[in-house]
Amino acid sequence: MNYSKMLDFTGKTVLITGGTGSIGSEFARAFASCGADVAIADINPAGSEEILSDCEKFGRRAYFISVDLFSVESIEEMVSSAAQKLGKIDVLCNHAGFNNRKNAVEYTEADWDKLIGVDLKAVFFVATATARHMIERKTGKIITTASVSAARGHKRLSIYASAKGGIRQMTKVLAHEWAEHGITVNAIGPGYVVTKQTEEYVKDPEIFKYLVSHIPMGRLGAPADMASVVLFLASEGASYITGQTIFVEGGRLID
Ligand SMILES: NC(=O)c1ccc[n+]([C@@H]2O[C@H](COP(=O)([O-])OP(=O)(O)OC[C@H]3O[C@@H](n4cnc5c(N)ncnc54)[C@H](O)[C@@H]3O)[C@@H](O)[C@H]2O)c1
Repeated sequence: MNYSKMLDFTGKTVLITGGTGSIGSEFARAFASCGADVAIADINPAGSEEILSDCEKFGRRAYFISVDLFSVESIEEMVSSAAQKLGKIDVLCNHAGFNNRKNAVEYTEADWDKLIGVDLKAVFFVATATARHMIERKTGKIITTASVSAARGHKRLSIYASAKGGIRQMTKVLAHEWAEHGITVNAIGPGYVVTKQTEEYVKDPEIFKYLVSHIPMGRLGAPADMASVVLFLASEGASYITGQTIFVEGGRLID
């Protein structure tokens, strides 16, 4: 192993769902800065031109693909389009997701279908559609975004936690099934990261104080904290890691 080139992704290609979001766009910039060509897929194109231009500044090819993760047909079109534009898919960041905080008794069936639809069902169908390409090539790295909610019973997150806990188990089974095809499947479990999804919530000084007081490292996470772990999991250095969820949370889960 050439350790000094462990994060050299020259010639590699990456598909990122949730690619125009706060963390997903950081993944795109991180991979491009390490030499990869990237496709960012999202339902929301806002900001995509700037993200693509940032990636192109590293001399990489970068594409935006429109996808609605509620539709398995749209997921399959996204994967075909990414494979066609990039030529192949070496790395999948199965990352899109959202949150909706309510007391359990307040959720409706529509809330359940929407949250589970994007945060769990789509994650499965994005993984399987991409794995079909990877199985043919006998190589691939899949990294899904779970959450500390996969390991804790935080209030007002019952559906989200069900989805993220499901991702953790799904990661193990897919890793087991696809190991023989040269594919690793892992997840990251972010703690609190300030993003478009959480900025309103953490703006409340009481909530901010509470959250930080429960993080031994004394700060919320940044998209770069997540991107660096994803780069490692996608690298040759992580060839012998599969089926794992790596929590990236400043020590939030220690006690
Ligand atoms: N921010 C945090 O503190 C935190 C913590 C743990 C896990 N996460 C996870 O990180 C991931 C990204 O979250 P973020 O905080 O960067 O939020 P974000 O809102 O910035 O990014 C999420 C992206 O997913 C896209 N998306 C949502 N629904 C979609 C759909 N139906 N089809 C296509 N795209 C869709 C959104 O348009 C958005 O660009 C999510 O899976 C989230 O659960 C975030």
